[in-house]
Amino acid sequence: MILLTEPAGAPLRGELTPPGDKSISHRALILGCLAAGESRIRGLLDSEDIRATAGACRQLGMSLREEAGVFVLHGVGEAGLQAPDAPLDMGNSGTAMRLLAGVLAAQEFDSVLTGDASLSRRPMRRIVRPLELMGARIETADGGTPPLRITGNPRLSGIEYHSPIASAQVKSCLLLAGLYASGCTVVREPLKSRDHTERMLPAFGVSLHGGCGVRGGSRLTGTDLQVPADISSAAFLLVAAAMVPGSDLLLRDVGLNETRDGVLHVLRAMGADLTVHNRRRFGGEEAGDLRLRYAGRLKGVDIERDRVPSLIDELPVILALAAVAEGTTRLRGAAELRVKESDRLAVMGRGLEALGVRLQEYDDGMDVEGGAIAAGHVDGAGDHRCAMSFSILGQVAAGPVSIAGAENIDTSYPGFTGDLSSVGGAVAMAGAAE
Ligand code: S3P
Repeated sequence: MILLTEPAGAPLRGELTPPGDKSISHRALILGCLAAGESRIRGLLDSEDIRATAGACRQLGMSLREEAGVFVLHGVGEAGLQAPDAPLDMGNSGTAMRLLAGVLAAQEFDSVLTGDASLSRRPMRRIVRPLELMGARIETADGGTPPLRITGNPRLSGIEYHSPIASAQVKSCLLLAGLYASGCTVVREPLKSRDHTERMLPAFGVSLHGGCGVRGGSRLTGTDLQVPADISSAAFLLVAAAMVPGSDLLLRDVGLNETRDGVLHVLRAMGADLTVHNRRRFGGEEAGDLRLRYAGRLKGVDIERDRVPSLIDELPVILALAAVAEGTTRLRGAAELRVKESDRLAVMGRGLEALGVRLQEYDDGMDVEGGAIAAGHVDGAGDHRCAMSFSILGQVAAGPVSIAGAENIDTSYPGFTGDLSSVGGAVAMAGAAE
């Protein structure tokens, strides 16, 4: 699939609610599956990644139906999972695979987790090693990649794990396994990663000990949840409004969890006029409405290393923004970008250069010099966030930009082209295969 953009002929204006938060939606489904009884979830993201998790939870015994925009799940209780009758296909979703691996490692039955070509290249030793320390038995392909062949072991032991990387997927995987393990499971990380699992567990009746520790044998009970809009999806529209002169956008109900809001700090540091309105709570999560008014050309900044976990998924679109800002933007400490749905530093570097941007790539980051954006053709490499980032940059290019490898946008942001068009963006999906 090819995404085609034209320079936006007019300011971007209007208001909308971006789709539900992907990280929170995965967790709502998984915890709802493990809980006894009914859970009702509003605002659940309906995207391909979330369908992969929902499909796996169904294979494990959960039922799920939609009633007027509310997803109603019947969980099986933490001890009630049924053995899947086929491998569980996690599609493009690293979160689905890594979180469910924690649950499945602790079952009486065996299971296999598979994924698409991109997921099949992603590193799984980061979860397999600590799960093995708990007593799990998991085989990977050579190189530590999927598929994961899990021999269930209902007698895991809790651990205190010092993770070498700040990864919410690793942390959440271990906490989920810890629900079944003897004693307490605690995860320490070098920088704080997103904490949606820790915030959601109490809603299902599980109390946490010692920061983020869980105790084995905790019981989960169904609950009602409201999922805020995804700040990672909102980021594309915020950056578009920050680039296109005269723009004024209002994005409603956006999740503002402080472990996820780094993009707002960077936008402000670059000089954007960004305000938060109507701050409120959606259960354990904070949310609010974001207004971004164009404030002239933004300035390049040094992105602080400590902020990287809180904006990891927004870095592709931040690099796109840097390409039009005045001066140089420097990013370091972001080696994790190389093991996302694609090698995002390489894919963004190649695409930005194809559009005339001057940059220097490093193992763990990039320096981007802001300037004019040329028309051209780039490759999104099947990575949803890179493809969307290029389409935002296309709004201020000198002419049309075509983006190959854009077929995965629906994994995180179904309706992206419609939302961007509805506020005046010039973007369309062309059906032709690459
Ligand atoms: C996620 C954690 C992050 C993030 C991913 C979603 C999650 O990955 O990049 O898109 O929902 O836990 P890592 O845990 O690999 O940092």
